[in-house]
Amino acid sequence: MKLFQTIESRRSIFPRQYNNRPIKKEDLKLILKAANFAPTHKKTEPWRFKVLQNVYKNDFGKFLSEKYKNTTAKFSEFKFESISNNIKRSSAIILICMQRDPLNSIPEWEEIASVSMAVQNMWLVSTELNIGSYWSSSKLIDHVHEFIKLKKGERCLGIFYMGYYDKKVTKRIPGSYEDKVCWFK
Ligand SMILES: Cc1cc2nc3c(=O)[nH]c(=O)nc-3n(C[C@H](O)[C@H](O)[C@H](O)COP(=O)(O)O)c2cc1C
Repeated sequence: MKLFQTIESRRSIFPRQYNNRPIKKEDLKLILKAANFAPTHKKTEPWRFKVLQNVYKNDFGKFLSEKYKNTTAKFSEFKFESISNNIKRSSAIILICMQRDPLNSIPEWEEIASVSMAVQNMWLVSTELNIGSYWSSSKLIDHVHEFIKLKKGERCLGIFYMGYYDKKVTKRIPGSYEDKVCWFK
């Protein structure tokens, strides 16, 4: 089954593996459209995405590394450099955000679950397009609102790094699914 093949081929592919090939706008749009089909309780559609490219993206990288410098208790020059370099190496990054329903009509965890399913859709379509990607949930995302204005009730849940890559990536062999399943007959 084609879908299953895509699911088992999906991997986290990190910026150090990216080449400089730009991602076409149509492909980015397709990835974002796929996200929009995620299931959503009470049709709140809580996923919000900020697509950062070019200078804006690189400025965000500088902002994040400075934030790291000013907030960490244990500074590492290597980490400082790699934060901005990883963003520079990415062809695009997408800030994964969640917009809380103003009526709080469903629990927050359900909205986070919906956003996560939207991200999985993006990740699978990226896999199909041979675009490497991964979800980073660094603590630094708590400062995103200092760089990009977020709406009331909007929260950043991570950074989706994206870029083409050259090296072949092997499938991850997960632990046995049988160990996570109980059958009741
Ligand atoms: C919600 C979420 C947050 C993640 N945050 C990070 C992160 O901050 N840093 C990182 O290196 N990987 C992060 N990952 C990627 C996981 O490390 C990766 O999915 C896991 O190692 C399995 O590898 P695979 O995606 O190639 O199957 C995150 C994944 C998810 C789903």
